[in-house]
Amino acid sequence: MEFFFRPEGVAVIGASRSPRKIGHQVLRNIVEGGYGGKVYPVNPKGGEILGLPVYKSVLDVPGSVDLAVVAVPAPVVPSVVRECGEKGVKGVAVISSGFGEVGNRELEEELVRTVKEYGMRLLGPNIFGVVYTPARLNASFGPPEVVPGKIALVSQSGALGIALMGWTQTEDIGLSAVVSVGNKADVSDEDLLDFFSADGNTEVVVIYMEGVKDGRAFMEAVRRCPKPVVVIKAGRSERGAQAVSSHTGSLAGADLVYDGAFRQVGVIRAGDVRDAFVLARALSELPVPEGDGTVIITNGGGMGVLATDAAEDEGLPLYSGPELVAFRSAMPPFGSYRNPVDITGMADPTMYLRALEVAQESRGVHSVILLYCETAVCDPLELAEGLKKEYRREKPLTVAMVGGSRTAEAVHRLNRAGIPAYTSPAEAVRAMKGLYLWKEFRGKRAPLSGGAR
Ligand code: ACO
Repeated sequence: MEFFFRPEGVAVIGASRSPRKIGHQVLRNIVEGGYGGKVYPVNPKGGEILGLPVYKSVLDVPGSVDLAVVAVPAPVVPSVVRECGEKGVKGVAVISSGFGEVGNRELEEELVRTVKEYGMRLLGPNIFGVVYTPARLNASFGPPEVVPGKIALVSQSGALGIALMGWTQTEDIGLSAVVSVGNKADVSDEDLLDFFSADGNTEVVVIYMEGVKDGRAFMEAVRRCPKPVVVIKAGRSERGAQAVSSHTGSLAGADLVYDGAFRQVGVIRAGDVRDAFVLARALSELPVPEGDGTVIITNGGGMGVLATDAAEDEGLPLYSGPELVAFRSAMPPFGSYRNPVDITGMADPTMYLRALEVAQESRGVHSVILLYCETAVCDPLELAEGLKKEYRREKPLTVAMVGGSRTAEAVHRLNRAGIPAYTSPAEAVRAMKGLYLWKEFRGKRAPLSGGAR
């Protein structure tokens, strides 16, 4: 699978001079994304596109080609893929629609036969492409900019995958890879899980899934994966399952069966797309808590109550031991050191950082949820900078900050610094819950050789 992510040379078949066409956009994303390898546009018209010479066929390309991205109309696909086989291409990513998803199963089968005949692998068809940020490869017609990071996103939905690429950018969510799997005619979720299991640049795999072709194989691949796997499984309801069948032709199956299988192998199931990234952000950045015992630190009683309710709902264990008394040194006399630890509206950045220090020192506290309501006495940016400096990364810390534009900027700064920060207490709690789930689930998985988790 390596050649889909770190190809030696990439051909774009169906590269067009017209900026509106998908074949042009894929080529531009590869070139402007800064991919360091050779790029070969292919189009029978020849000439030059984006300053690169165009080859009339992939067979005319002088260098070796590991990956071919195919963006020609479906009826032409089998013949260009056969030429890829003759050329010695290792992987083809077929963007073109018009195969199994519209009932054209024969054409899809012909395509699969051809790739097998030449020992190639096929991603798709019916995809938006593949992105791998460590190689600065954006072989997709999604947004040109992708924030590099440690989360691999695998999407069975094209439009949703593209939308998420843009959304992760505004939310400061870093991605190692984005893979559109489309009809999954050859490369499956299992193949990708195996690749990301061994990929040193990926910490968490997020999958948007409508259905799997081979449930047992998927479960085995999850079991082999020493990293958290977060799945958004669409088609939960009966009507949703009907929508799935007309979208990707997948069998959504009984939701309870998926739920049971996920639990068995330790898949973290996300309620929706936002939830998936709330979880993945924390899972990709934070250490796993060593024990039960979460402390909530807040400058607002209401925020503290909301977080406590959310923690109860999630079954998150709140610390209630004798070491809570130490938090008195971080609050005025009218504060409350019971959990939630209310350092009051008078709290300034110094008090917050003192409370963080107590939590980091306390042997009974294993994880920290820090909440902030914007006040005039505590500048959110000063607090964010203080947290960046003082957080030791020995215990997990999630943050929720609610306020105006300076608070929004503080949330950005924390996330860019790898401290998961959210805009609601429930999300900070949910993110922490994800870490406790992973603590429980990782025992069901293959051990990570030489890794920290
Ligand atoms: N080798 C190389 N290039 C060729 C060949 C060939 N054998 N035959 C034709 N071409 C060229 C064409 O000449 C054209 O280039 P030009 O602009 O210089 O003339 C180029 O390939 C593209 O061919 P067109 O016929 O212009 O096709 P178009 O670009 O309109 O569409 C596409 C091709 C994008 C593959 C389309 O058929 C398709 O399937 N679109 C759907 C893609 C999609 O949605 N994917 C699903 C996931 S994403 C999502 O759901 C949002």
